[in-house]
Amino acid sequence: MKKVTKAIIPAAGLGTRFLPITKAVPKPMLSVIDKPTIQFICEELASSGIADIVIVVSPGSEVIKNHFSPAPELENRLLSDKKSKLYDVAMETLKYNVNFVVQETANGLAGAILCAEPYINGEPFALLLGDELIYAGEGDKPCIKRLIEIYESTGKSVIATMEVFGDDVSKYGNIGIKDETEDGVMTIERIVEKPSINEALSNNAIIGRYVMDGKVMDMLKTLTVRNNEIYFTDALDTLAANGEILASNFDGIRYDVGDKFGYVKANLEYALRSEELKDQTKELIKELYEKI
Ligand code: G1P
Repeated sequence: MKKVTKAIIPAAGLGTRFLPITKAVPKPMLSVIDKPTIQFICEELASSGIADIVIVVSPGSEVIKNHFSPAPELENRLLSDKKSKLYDVAMETLKYNVNFVVQETANGLAGAILCAEPYINGEPFALLLGDELIYAGEGDKPCIKRLIEIYESTGKSVIATMEVFGDDVSKYGNIGIKDETEDGVMTIERIVEKPSINEALSNNAIIGRYVMDGKVMDMLKTLTVRNNEIYFTDALDTLAANGEILASNFDGIRYDVGDKFGYVKANLEYALRSEELKDQTKELIKELYEKI
């Protein structure tokens, strides 16, 4: 059975929901406390056994490249000041094998994936959207690891899914489920992108974690361009019609850090988990609770 060894992180969005910070700072560099979201995603990959990563960036995203490159002046200073813990923190991002590819035209998720094709070379790949974090707690399997295991045992592409309700249904790709096994793996009938509530097939939303068979690249090249975008979901729907894609639940907590409130929530909850910040954060929350 084919092994998954590579990952694509599409991170070329303009980040308009986060203006003005995204005028000069690429969205993947927005941090949850002190770490850029793109680094959290690399950590999810590393803990799932994948270090070979392609990040699809927009033109002028040198800051992201710098984050994954040596910083000799800083490193030497930390060493001479004997700040070995901070030195380790600064060196952390050098352990990933990261390649960068520039998406010149903003032509959708499928366009971004196609930019990474030369690195994928027909092999299966993990796909992790740059503005979603999935926190795996004690004993939780990282989301992308679960999908990799499903792909490697079935040979079928697989998408992570969660239940959403009300207006949220129209914010996501939507999956019509055929049936579900006891361990949370589902066969799929159809997939539609961001349907109205009336058109929704179910309450199962696509979240930004996928493992795809390499042949999807050829499918993407045949898709019709609509509104200047190539819709990845069109390829997913064709795979669904052919019985070649599964959906799966996952452990952990998903944060939409591309959404302002999701971003606030992530910062607060990560602060509550941090040894350094949790006591002060709890105090702050109690104080605020008295006031509101
Ligand atoms: C993309 C996908 C959508 C998926 C969503 C998850 O949409 O097209 O199917 O549900 O990510 O966040 P976007 O949020 O980029 O518009």
